[in-house]
Amino acid sequence: MTFNSCYFLAPMASYTDKPFRKIASEYGAGFTVSELISINSICYNNPKAFFLANRNNNEVPFAIQLFGYEIDLFVKAAQKIESMCDMIDINAGCPVPKVIKAKAGAYLLKEKKHLISIVELLKNHIKKPLSVKLRMGFDSDNINDIQFYKDLENAGCDMITIHARLRSGFYSSSVDYEHIANVCDKLSIPVVANGDIDSYEKLKEVKRITGCKYFMIGQAALKKPYIFEDLINKQDSIRSIEYTKAIMIRHFNLMIEEYGEYAYRLFRKFAHKYLSGYKNAKLINSYINNCKNTQEVLNIINSIK
Ligand SMILES: Cc1cc2nc3c(=O)[nH]c(=O)nc-3n(C[C@H](O)[C@H](O)[C@H](O)COP(=O)(O)O)c2cc1C
Repeated sequence: MTFNSCYFLAPMASYTDKPFRKIASEYGAGFTVSELISINSICYNNPKAFFLANRNNNEVPFAIQLFGYEIDLFVKAAQKIESMCDMIDINAGCPVPKVIKAKAGAYLLKEKKHLISIVELLKNHIKKPLSVKLRMGFDSDNINDIQFYKDLENAGCDMITIHARLRSGFYSSSVDYEHIANVCDKLSIPVVANGDIDSYEKLKEVKRITGCKYFMIGQAALKKPYIFEDLINKQDSIRSIEYTKAIMIRHFNLMIEEYGEYAYRLFRKFAHKYLSGYKNAKLINSYINNCKNTQEVLNIINSIK
């Protein structure tokens, strides 16, 4: 599979929808992924699942990320959606208690043989490439060893993305880039480094430690989607508030196209990210939270100085 750049947009539930993925792609994200979608909801033809799986026109390459436990449902779900994407990704990293309780997400790292069987069977039943996005282990008693990664590769996995935190570390523990380095060194398939890459300076460090060729960026892209352009241009740019306002307006208009008038509510969380660190953020966020329609949101964005 070829990528438009080696900097990928991380899947983020309720953020990386079509409008945001379009913005990230325009700034040079080389690969995009849907948010996690339940295999059960696809198998039961839940319309929301198919809405989440939809890609933008010309959004290439694009993966649909599946989460769940039962092997037969993984196969059935993957067969239903494989024509809608270029790659299928298995979520083995989600730390959310509800997902873990359903034996999905990072729980799969506690049943490694089961996860390997899912990969093997999917490979036998689908034509599209298959990747796994995982954490480096479930907890300190369950850290993934190199044999597990080799087993995934031998089972037919075409790419592995490592968010180098344990499930128990959620989003706050430090990221273990040495863990990624060891895997990258031992496997032949692409290994994607993920976790806390928020600048070109940081990328250089992650590249040096891991030896990876591919990198996935999540939260930093929500604050500055132009991070992809920065990484491609090997720089850390400082952009004005006028520039951020222009991105916000472009993004908001894409959301209005996608969701209609309801976009005024859905955009709030994005506005908070764009404005984080800005001097009047608290006040502007409270204005945006109180808006009752899309025009009011546009007026607030335009009034930012
Ligand atoms: C709000 C939010 C939602 C997320 N949703 C998903 C998801 O649907 N699937 C997934 O594999 N990872 C998900 N993640 C994890 C990210 O893809 C990524 O692995 C993690 O944020 C670390 O990368 P970062 O430090 O660049 O953000 C989510 C993270 C956040 C913050």
